[in-house]
Amino acid sequence: MMMVVKKKKHYFRCCEWKWIVLCQLLLANAVCASHHGNPANDLVDIINKNRTAQKLPELNDSPGLGCMALQYVELCKDNCTSNGVVNCKPPEDDFTEVFGPNCGVELPTFGTITGHVVGCQAKYLEPSLAFSHVLVNDSKALSLIRNKSHTEVGVGLVGARKGSFFWCILFSDGQTNSTFVLEDNGEGIKQKTGCFSGSTFPCSGGHRIPVFLNNFMTMVLLNIFLLQHLYQTWFVMM
Ligand SMILES: *[C@@H]1O[C@H](CO)[C@@H](O)[C@H](O)[C@H]1NC(C)=O
Ligand SMILES: *[C@@H]1O[C@H](CO)[C@@H](O)[C@H](O)[C@H]1NC(C)=O
Ligand SMILES: *[C@@H]1O[C@H](CO)[C@@H](O)[C@H](O)[C@H]1NC(C)=O
Ligand SMILES: *[C@@H]1O[C@H](CO)[C@@H](O)[C@H](O)[C@H]1NC(C)=O
Ligand SMILES: *[C@@H]1O[C@H](CO)[C@@H](O)[C@H](O)[C@H]1NC(C)=O
Repeated sequence: MMMVVKKKKHYFRCCEWKWIVLCQLLLANAVCASHHGNPANDLVDIINKNRTAQKLPELNDSPGLGCMALQYVELCKDNCTSNGVVNCKPPEDDFTEVFGPNCGVELPTFGTITGHVVGCQAKYLEPSLAFSHVLVNDSKALSLIRNKSHTEVGVGLVGARKGSFFWCILFSDGQTNSTFVLEDNGEGIKQKTGCFSGSTFPCSGGHRIPVFLNNFMTMVLLNIFLLQHLYQTWFVMM
């Protein structure tokens, strides 16, 4: 009798544990699902909303600029100080000599970069928080965002191994769709990590990898759970 009770208790504890894990995974997935898509595109939308609220024209989302913004943060991602200050000054020439070629920007279509904003933070922030807390937190950055000369915008972001996140916004006054054109019909060169606005490739930056891992883990645990459940049912039927 004692044995049976003990076994039963153990069975229930095990079951509860599994339910807790399952619920947490489902919850984590539901939370992560709200991050779906590309946070760099979300930032372009936020920038454009902020401009149109001031009756300024919307900026064209340029994948060429976005990819170069990602290159910028890739180069700078280890230069974030503990209080969120960017300590990084890539040479001007890097745009035409390194960033552009790494993205597959067609050199003859290179335009003028009329402004850039960079920011970093110890952890990942939602696009709206990254905008207001990190990128556009003072009047200087706000006037840059609202400059009338800009016609195009591109956003790149990446998470560094140390855990900090880096964002970059680039502006240009180029002709829409004819500056910073990416080769291969606008596809350009696939980037290994990070996210950039207007990308035709799925975003693999920052939190996308954890989401993928989380989904993977969910599938594994869900399968174990279902298999165990099937086994139990099977034993009952025997
Ligand atoms: C990043 O920081 C290091 C150390 O302060 C510095 O030597 C390096 O030049 C910085 N990188 C860039 C691209 O500015
Ligand atoms: C807007 O950007 C252009 C090009 O970078 C610059 O010459 C101009 O001074 C800026 N205007 C304002 C109001 O900041
Ligand atoms: C635009 O951005 C600034 C700086 O983050 C913020 O104070 C302002 O409320 C924003 N305006 C709109 C309409 O979103
Ligand atoms: C805005 O953030 C930057 C770093 O991202 C920081 O250097 C600057 O002091 C902040 N400005 C204000 C007004 O908080
Ligand atoms: C630029 O390209 C986008 C996407 O292909 C298109 O929707 C937009 O109308 C184009 N704009 C101009 C001015 O050609």
